[in-house]
Amino acid sequence: MKRIAVLTSGGDAPGMNAAIRAVVRNGIYRGLKVYGIRKGFSGLLNEDFVEMDLRSVADIIHRGGTILQTARCEEFKTEEGLHKGTEILRRRGIDGLVVIGGDGSFRGALALTRRGVPAVGVPGTIDNDIPGTDLTIGFDTAVNNAIQAVDKIRDTATSHERTFVIEVMGRRAGDIALAAGLAVGAETILIPEEPYSIDEVVDRLKKSVARGKRHSILLVAEGVGQATDIAAEIRSRTGWETRVTVLGHLQRGGSPTAVDRVLASRMGAMAVDLLLEGQSGKMVALQRNALVAVDLDEAMKGTHRPDLGLYTLARILSI
Ligand code: F6P
Repeated sequence: MKRIAVLTSGGDAPGMNAAIRAVVRNGIYRGLKVYGIRKGFSGLLNEDFVEMDLRSVADIIHRGGTILQTARCEEFKTEEGLHKGTEILRRRGIDGLVVIGGDGSFRGALALTRRGVPAVGVPGTIDNDIPGTDLTIGFDTAVNNAIQAVDKIRDTATSHERTFVIEVMGRRAGDIALAAGLAVGAETILIPEEPYSIDEVVDRLKKSVARGKRHSILLVAEGVGQATDIAAEIRSRTGWETRVTVLGHLQRGGSPTAVDRVLASRMGAMAVDLLLEGQSGKMVALQRNALVAVDLDEAMKGTHRPDLGLYTLARILSI
């Protein structure tokens, strides 16, 4: 193995830069030439390659986003796209590829491996929704971003004795809502993995108001539905002043936390080690605080489940 390449794909996540840095620095340390591919798989198809050196990843460990930029590429899901990408990597003498991204990106990595270009995945998404790993790069920062925002909303919610319905990201997963909801002491957390009844939600809110609570904060994962609809239901059943905040992309930006920087550095470095060991079609994963290599196809077949213990605990603690 002489030349490897690295790309980021799908939604960006804080910590991706630290992962790129680890791939580049560990690759060069081990005597490899390392190339960056800009804008994910679409950059691969457009041959947007850049040779990386030690300095090209200087001053990025603390930055959100991804210096390589990212994209969601429909063409790479087609047979023609995959064929073209494989040929480009072969012609350029790329012996291994590190793909930093979410499950959509890993399908591309797996398809390349099956076509003879060894690829390894590094899980980078704020959603924490990748089966096989306890944590993905960017999740911790996103949760912290959400917490900071909700803490601010809480000040005004208390002052006006209002109910706030706050929508957080997560695509189809409730992990951000669960972790942020527990951390801010939300009265109610709604996640797609746990069915709810609006009557029960309203009942709980009424009881907590009767116990003297001066505000109500509901954290709703976007996979459940729109916060505006839930707020309208609460308003029509209670007549309370209800406000909605959709936190949106502010959760995805900003300087990565220590947890994300350390995780990304470890995972990026290990991805290079795996390629050098001749392992491919693998994803670097965190399991019980240790890094392990899991089969990408096994991970793709699995189902991600959030820690529902957090859900139960949050309900107990918010009485
Ligand atoms: O996967 C990361 C994520 O931020 C999800 O939480 C969200 O549903 C989606 O990406 C938003 O995508 P986009 O940035 O394309 O609007």
